[in-house]
Amino acid sequence: MSDTYDIVIIGGGPGGYNCAIRAGQLGLKTACVEMRGTLGGTCLNVGCIPSKALLHASELYEVAGSQFANLGIKTGAIELDLDAMLGQKDEAVDGLTKGIEFLFKKNGVEYIRGRGRIAGPGKVEVDAEGGKSTLETKNIVIATGSEVTPLPGVTIDEKRVVSSTGALALEQVPDKLVLIGAGVIGLELGSVWRRLGAQVTVVEYLDRILPGMDSELAKTAQRTFAKQGMDFKLGTKVTGVDTSGDRLGVTLEPAAGGEAETIEADTVLVCIGRRPFTDGLGLETVGIETDQRGFIANDQYRTSAENVWVVGDCTHGPMLAHKAEDEGVACAERIAGKAGHVNYGVIPGVVYTAPEIASVGLTEDELKKSGRKYKKGKFPFQANSRARTNHATDGFVKILADAETDEILGAHMIGANVGEMIGELCVAMEFRAASEDIARTCHPHPTLTEAIRQAAMGVEGWTMQS
Ligand code: FAD
Ligand code: NAI
Repeated sequence: MSDTYDIVIIGGGPGGYNCAIRAGQLGLKTACVEMRGTLGGTCLNVGCIPSKALLHASELYEVAGSQFANLGIKTGAIELDLDAMLGQKDEAVDGLTKGIEFLFKKNGVEYIRGRGRIAGPGKVEVDAEGGKSTLETKNIVIATGSEVTPLPGVTIDEKRVVSSTGALALEQVPDKLVLIGAGVIGLELGSVWRRLGAQVTVVEYLDRILPGMDSELAKTAQRTFAKQGMDFKLGTKVTGVDTSGDRLGVTLEPAAGGEAETIEADTVLVCIGRRPFTDGLGLETVGIETDQRGFIANDQYRTSAENVWVVGDCTHGPMLAHKAEDEGVACAERIAGKAGHVNYGVIPGVVYTAPEIASVGLTEDELKKSGRKYKKGKFPFQANSRARTNHATDGFVKILADAETDEILGAHMIGANVGEMIGELCVAMEFRAASEDIARTCHPHPTLTEAIRQAAMGVEGWTMQS
């Protein structure tokens, strides 16, 4: 058997490991090079999975303290055991990363530990503990992901001034936590530490939170998080963090310019976005250039270099695990000569706060801007019987459909469990359903999904409830 691989993938995150597994299933000789020491990338190690483990546990902690008594459940005093809470998070990560190793074995993928570098067409050099070696391959897939965008003038030490990685492992609950950036990471990890007792201030450069999401959702979300105790300083920039004293001094200025003020904090979380990671990858050896923001361009996952492909966070599109996964699978299928495809119009986004926030398709802001005529149906959870029995009535479902054809163009929700519910809209949009299709589909009663049906009925002008 030849030593030449069909595919060598650099990076073992959701983009890389899904590409590898699919390639193995398609009978291609596949290796995946990963330098982290464990598979699963940002998502499994320091992203989606540990953050959700902490979101789940911290939500139960808050609910036990604030709602059990109202439900007739008596407990002793609720106490936090932070070490145990962090421990169960680490266990979830450990189990899932090992699961990927198992899937590699099952699907005949070779897992190579080390740092990969493209050394020219068809060559990947691996720098591992035992030394350097070079792999020969017909195709190279770049799946090297992303890293934290630094803020000039603010040094991250992962103890007091942290990125999301440090914020997933704080040794104690800070009295005062300042978040720089009101995006997904800030709201999720800010929620975790607020529930555990921190006083949270969110500093955001723009005059709104969650840029890019439907602005009606973002406004409702901000109101809800403010009620929960988060303090928002919008239209404000951080110009420096003084680490010389016992407490941190965070200097703020209005984004438009003006007088500076300094607020104290025990911990500062820098979460102003992520940027593609391609350091030391040897892109120049095959003539690939990145754009101004560091992304590698692709055309159906092909880069500008022959037989070099790219998927996930280091190429264009939303920086989401499921987008990276889908690209990984489609890329492997294309390399195998099949018709791999991703529908970029139907990539959902979820913020796993309480309430959750979920979106798919076009926002109302985008529709207004484009001038396309649309119909809108909106249904509040306040009028949904299951939300009432669960005492979770915050939020709404909004469905947007084409004014003439009734095709669903977008769906935006805020409320308990909407991160699970958005899947229904994804399937409907993938099949190019009309809003009336959902309105006429029987949904189980009493469930939160009835709010989706009612919103769709609202598009048709015949909502039954409320
Ligand atoms: P990555 O997951 O970043 O994987 C790339 C891998 O390549 C890394 O393991 C890296 O070590 C390796 N690598 C890089 N260079 C080399 C090299 N030269 N040689 C060998 N290996 C290399 N997305 C969601 O969809 N849902 C969520 O809930 C969610 N939560 C998140 C929470 C946080 C705190 C963060 C930071 C991110 C979250 N994301 C979430 C985003 C998600 O993690 C990323 O979109 C996803 O991991 C991207 O996958 P990827 O395979 O492109 O890259
Ligand atoms: P983000 O892009 O979601 O939000 C960054 C925020 O910081 C924006 O509101 C931006 O306006 C603001 N900002 C930028 N520069 C600033 C400055 N100098 N001062 C103050 N505010 C500033 O990025 P975030 O939250 O860091 O997340 C990174 C990526 O990780 C996202 O692209 C997201 O897709 C992914 N992610 C996804 C999650 C999910 O799907 N649930 C969870 C966490 C992360």
